[in-house]
Amino acid sequence: MMERRPEPELMLDDAQAHAYAEADFSEPHEHFVDLFAERFPGPVNGLVLDLGCGPGDVSLRFAGRYPACMVHGIDGAPAMLAAGADLCRRHPAGFRVNLSRGLLPEAVGPGAPYETIISNSLLHHLHDPRALWAVVIRDGAPGAAVFVMDLCRPDSPARVRTLVAEHAADAPEVLRRDFENSLHAAFTPEEVRAQLNEAGLDGFRVEQVSDRHLVAWGRL
Ligand SMILES: C[S@@+](CC[C@H](N)C(=O)[O-])C[C@H]1O[C@@H](n2cnc3c(N)ncnc32)[C@H](O)[C@@H]1O
Repeated sequence: MMERRPEPELMLDDAQAHAYAEADFSEPHEHFVDLFAERFPGPVNGLVLDLGCGPGDVSLRFAGRYPACMVHGIDGAPAMLAAGADLCRRHPAGFRVNLSRGLLPEAVGPGAPYETIISNSLLHHLHDPRALWAVVIRDGAPGAAVFVMDLCRPDSPARVRTLVAEHAADAPEVLRRDFENSLHAAFTPEEVRAQLNEAGLDGFRVEQVSDRHLVAWGRL
């Protein structure tokens, strides 16, 4: 099995943040909302916490799909949040999305406890993945719906290169490198299962949902 190679937690670089905010993530991010809706059928009301929201593309798509919710996003990278403020201004659901700066796990969701917690592509950034599950438990209400999606670490560098060629061939160099580093930093489904068990979230499920993504989800 290929060893995990962590990458920097925060995406602090302006060029990287700009390229990320401009990139077209419509396919994986719509997939994120579709997979949430399949696993948690019915309306979503009230406050939603989006951990590691970046420029908020997932927060905005989620708010667009669920008109009765308000999304609080937290991220530690000012450049990502600046790009996010711009995206929120231009999006019809932007007035129901509030992105703020906070370093996890210390930062607490401003509306905690939340009935819904979502997170996309944060887990693989964390040097200690226990931080994510600790925040989920701390900031979620009893019975809260929790839905986390991330990349899965492939079993070889050759497989990493194939995935980059398949999914990021036309992306700017900075994003191709990002994607490659992220695949090396990601966890396997078995590792996420072990994290959940250690956190006491035994009732959560882990599923591989595409050639490069997994979801971990359940109710607190
Ligand atoms: C790959 S981006 C994902 C952004 C967004 N969720 C999306 O799907 O587009 C990961 C984000 O997590 C943020 N991040 C990483 N570690 C963090 C931490 N410890 N506290 C807060 N944000 C963090 C990074 O700054 C970055 O914006």
